Amino acid sequence: MTESPKVSGSLRNRLAVTLIGGASLLAVLLFLVVRTYAAQIAQQGQDSILGASVTSILDAAVLRDDQVEIDFPYAAFSMLTTPAHDRVFYAIYRDAELLSGYADLPLPKGSDSGERRYQSAEFIGKPIRISTASRTLLGADVKTRITVSVAQTQDALSDRLNAISRNIASFGIGFFVLVVLLSFWATSSTIAPLNRLATSVTRRGPQDLSPVIKPVPTEMLPLVASLNRLMARLNQSLTQSEDFIAEAAHRVRTPLATVRSHAETTLQRVDKEQNRQALRAMIRAIDESSRAAGQLLDHAMITFRADQLEYQQLDLVELVQKLVLRLSPVAEMKDIDLRFLGDQPVLCQGDPILLQNAIRNLIDNALKYSPSESAIDIWVTSQPQPQVEIRDQGPGFPIDEISDLAQRFSRGNNAAGTIGSGLGLTIAQDVAIAHGGKLALSNHTGGGACVIFSL
Ligand SMILES: Nc1ncnc2c1ncn2[C@@H]1O[C@H](COP(=O)(O)OP(=O)(O)OP(=O)(O)O)[C@@H](O)[C@H]1O
Ligand SMILES: [Mg+2]
Repeated sequence: MTESPKVSGSLRNRLAVTLIGGASLLAVLLFLVVRTYAAQIAQQGQDSILGASVTSILDAAVLRDDQVEIDFPYAAFSMLTTPAHDRVFYAIYRDAELLSGYADLPLPKGSDSGERRYQSAEFIGKPIRISTASRTLLGADVKTRITVSVAQTQDALSDRLNAISRNIASFGIGFFVLVVLLSFWATSSTIAPLNRLATSVTRRGPQDLSPVIKPVPTEMLPLVASLNRLMARLNQSLTQSEDFIAEAAHRVRTPLATVRSHAETTLQRVDKEQNRQALRAMIRAIDESSRAAGQLLDHAMITFRADQLEYQQLDLVELVQKLVLRLSPVAEMKDIDLRFLGDQPVLCQGDPILLQNAIRNLIDNALKYSPSESAIDIWVTSQPQPQVEIRDQGPGFPIDEISDLAQRFSRGNNAAGTIGSGLGLTIAQDVAIAHGGKLALSNHTGGGACVIFSL
């Protein structure tokens, strides 16, 4: 069982959270900066009107007979009219003495430099902005200083600021939504090559250890390069172990054949029943070993060739007919009627050596597991796909084991007493899969095993 790797978060989520987090921070920052800037500009606007109002009042002040006279210019207050009907206050001082206006209007702190001064304060419970300026009036023998303060509440200003804030906020939200959409698009398109790589590796057949050659982004190159190196190493060590098995099986088979022939000759010479029994057991064990070695050799060859199939155009009918012909002596020995049905050529693409091996194993099973004086029917058909169906009249597959029989070294409970290694169906199934087909095992309703080998 493969252990699934531990998950440490999701790249997509991490990317999305970073992008969206960054975007919301930027949106808030943008809002604050633009709002502060807008507030500054609006304040400058109010200040310049207040300043102009103060100047126009100061300019209207004259000294007549030591008395200060001011003919308030109409514009001095009318210029301060606002849509929010802001209230206006003023105070006029001659030196430190209040001449007119609100005595408790706050005056700017600090020294009077003659420049216009501005300050924000609170008056009658409302925030106000005050502009103050002074002017020296010269009379015949007096010199006096007039100070004028004009103040205004800030309702229109804060209305305007609120409107601006609303606009910036909607602009910021729009920007944020756009960035969220963009970040979803960006994360999907960034993750896409990873997903494509995963899909292409997942879709591979179990035997496919070829390197990944599809183009990948630069950042993924190290990963794909290590993956390819890993697959190359795996492929090499698989080939090595298959080679090793094949070599070992080959080396075992030849001396086994020699031992068997010696045992056969000795069996003919020995009379004592006990010794004869021992020799027979020995010959059977040798047969088992040599069958196993032969099947292992074939299996290794098939695993190796399945990676690089040598496709040829071939006639399946002809191929199976030859096999039937070759196996008929075995059938005759058991009095089994090996019947081949099919005369039209069934043309297909395939590796003839692998196909022969697979179908030989299937016919071999039918011969091995059916009783003597029975019949085996073999059909080759081209519809729905090129396939070979082999049906015998034996006991059929053990039904509770049928799904496992095609696994390596798996033998059914009906196999006791027959020589075999449990690799025949594995070989047939591997060959079918390598050709893009499958092997289906079932039992016929009238009794007997039914195997369909399709391409
Ligand atoms: N025609 C059949 N009828 C009944 N049982 C079968 C038939 N063919 C296969 N089986 C069952 O399936 C098992 C697996 O078959 P498989 O060909 O893989 O191995 P085997 O015949 O035991 O050994 P070998 O590798 O020598 O062929 C057999 O042991 C047998 O129990
Ligand atoms: Mg078999």
